[in-house]
Amino acid sequence: MPDFPVLGLRIKNPVIVGSGLLTDQERNIRRLLTSGAGAVVTKTIHPSPPQGLEERILRLPVGMLNSTTYSKRSVDYWLRALRSCAAEGLPVIASVHADTPVELGELAREVERTGCRALELGISCLNDETGFGDDDPDRVFAYTAETRSRVALPFSVKVAIGDALEERVRAAIAGGADAITMSDTIPGAAVSPLTGGLELGGTYGYSGAGIKPLVLAAIWRLRKRGFDLPIMGCGGINSGRDVADYLNVGAHVAQVYTALHTDMYDTLKRIVAETDDILSGTAPVTLETVEVTT
Ligand SMILES: Cc1cc2nc3c(=O)[nH]c(=O)nc-3n(C[C@H](O)[C@H](O)[C@H](O)COP(=O)(O)O)c2cc1C
Repeated sequence: MPDFPVLGLRIKNPVIVGSGLLTDQERNIRRLLTSGAGAVVTKTIHPSPPQGLEERILRLPVGMLNSTTYSKRSVDYWLRALRSCAAEGLPVIASVHADTPVELGELAREVERTGCRALELGISCLNDETGFGDDDPDRVFAYTAETRSRVALPFSVKVAIGDALEERVRAAIAGGADAITMSDTIPGAAVSPLTGGLELGGTYGYSGAGIKPLVLAAIWRLRKRGFDLPIMGCGGINSGRDVADYLNVGAHVAQVYTALHTDMYDTLKRIVAETDDILSGTAPVTLETVEVTT
């Protein structure tokens, strides 16, 4: 397979492990890399993550709901881990966020000093206190521009599909983003049959197979409208075919997350192997869509 240039990293395959609980420790990150990930994004590092929230995941028949926010590990833990990975040249992308743009700029600067080579701004988590996600382009611009003014490192801005998507992407570009990661989780709900109330107590981040067609459509539309910045496509990937679908609609690379909550390392190895087969032209093309005539 050719190299996949993204954020200045020349990664060996386009399957990147996205940010989440599974990437919340150095040991997992290293093992995901030896299992074949082109790169790994850390759980979002935050100088003052919310405390006392009940953070949970709930598997649904299709996909997953989660109410998690940011890493509870200290910034010091992460700076040590990132320094040690950087010393070995490992392709680790640090996901970062903070309560204000200035604090994010400072955190990004500290991360840059570890030798880490790329960042992702994890600024669109809908599970934090605001609970509204990131439908404000001004907010995206403020975080992006402040980070750009503080670091020379390449970085991607993570957005969720939804309202004002094009405006938010434009704001990220205007602020100096090198790439977009799309999508973060989108608001979802499940109703408890016992109580009739919402599971997890509210609307939280929905991910997995159910969001893939929506994210594909959003990437396709951005490309049609002439947006040409690199996109890390993310949402519902569980096979090499899914990765190829993302590349075909215009993503430069793909991120996989929720699928890895089942047999993490084996699932990753399978997705990487399937992707390899498809991109090298050795996999047969199978049609997964079924046309129904009435
Ligand atoms: C349990 C869980 C935790 C997550 N934590 C983060 C996070 O800390 N930072 C972030 O940017 N995205 C986070 N995400 C979002 C994923 O990185 C990804 O963008 C999203 O789940 C869509 O991809 P998927 O369908 O392959 O999971 C999390 C997702 C899940 C399910």
